[in-house]
Amino acid sequence: MKTGISIFTCLLILSLTACKPDLQFPVTDGHQHTHVDLNTGGLPPMIIPAENPLSVEGIALGRKLFYDNLLSANNTMNCGSCHQLRNYFVDSNLALSVGIDGIAGTRNSMPLFNIGYSKKFFWDGGAADLESQVMGPITNPVEMHETMANVVNKLQSHPQYPSLFKQAFGTDVVTSKLIFFAIAQFERTLISANSKFDQWKRGEATLTAQEQRGLDVYTNDQKGDCTHCHSLGSTFTDFEFRNTGLDSIPVDKGRALITLDSDDDGKFKTPTLRNIAMTPPYMHDGRFATLRQCIEHYNKNFKYTKNLAPELKILPKNRMTEGDIDDLIAFLETLTDHEFINNKNFDKPE
Ligand code: HEC
Ligand code: HEC
Repeated sequence: MKTGISIFTCLLILSLTACKPDLQFPVTDGHQHTHVDLNTGGLPPMIIPAENPLSVEGIALGRKLFYDNLLSANNTMNCGSCHQLRNYFVDSNLALSVGIDGIAGTRNSMPLFNIGYSKKFFWDGGAADLESQVMGPITNPVEMHETMANVVNKLQSHPQYPSLFKQAFGTDVVTSKLIFFAIAQFERTLISANSKFDQWKRGEATLTAQEQRGLDVYTNDQKGDCTHCHSLGSTFTDFEFRNTGLDSIPVDKGRALITLDSDDDGKFKTPTLRNIAMTPPYMHDGRFATLRQCIEHYNKNFKYTKNLAPELKILPKNRMTEGDIDDLIAFLETLTDHEFINNKNFDKPE
């Protein structure tokens, strides 16, 4: 059954519709928003939902909320706790993220740069848009373990927030929906597009002979064949869900938890490979510590499971030599945008 929708997704949709009546766009009370045209730094234009246009005030509010501990039950954790700018918005080397009660979840934190291009969110695609994604971590018992009602109350009685919501959305009545909207606006600004690879494409840098060979391994369908899924160029992923043969019997059913279709067992969202050298450990459960282990998985360790991606099914094992693997790693290292983590606009506000 391909069309099943999880209870979680339904709840998200319900909760969003439930808070819809208290807001009108565009805001009509005479408040002037400062519209933002997102500079995507050479990446394709980003589609911004018409109901949540970017504004200077909305982005600033979202940034403050992203880094605010008030979003967690015991006021000790914020989005930036598990999505740290200095680690390219993933956790610091943790395989599984740990929430406010010291309990680990079952999945590896995901990077948030270029997230505005993604179609579905979470490793299993359980959230349909960036706005509705925000409720997940706030209310997840092993993450921030808070209720939306409490968050709304805390922000409404805060000395600054009501006026910041007023500036961003024209109303000082704090709602879940506006919290989601503001954080999504901030997340859409997190563009990473200035790696050596980008500079090379713009004619500003040269790839070494080894990096060049690694690029060939990446694209060659007799070698890496990475391009089929981690498409070369802008986001380095097509965002589709696939089973890469990590386990004969997947412990985490991934996409199937959402679609309830056993053909989706063990399928996970194809992650970006930008900044990949900087975001270990790897895979949905953080099982691999190094890029070499990831590549060895594709080269020889993947399992011929029922749902194995057709692209992998037809590839012979041991098709890459040790030299190919060294070259491929050198190429993947050119995807690091060293400037990104120093962008003050992405950091916790003063
Ligand atoms: C306790 C650690 C933790 C906290 C706190 C946390 N996250 Fe996450 N985040 C994760 C993990 C782990 C995943 C992957 C979860 C999954 O797939 O089930 C994730 C996934 C995401 C994704 C999906 C990315 C993608 O490519 O699909 C987004 C977006 C995100 N988080 C944003 C946020 C925001 C916004 C907040 C604050 C409201 C937040 N996170 C708080 C750990 C955390
Ligand atoms: C059939 C599609 C497909 C192909 C081909 C493919 N990948 Fe992946 N890749 C995925 C998916 C899906 C995941 C997430 C798997 C998971 O966590 O269960 C992934 C995960 C990864 C990760 C971990 C990313 C992270 O953030 O944890 C790396 C690194 C990676 N792939 C590199 C490569 C390289 C290098 C190649 C070529 C040798 C390649 N992939 C070929 C689909 C693919």
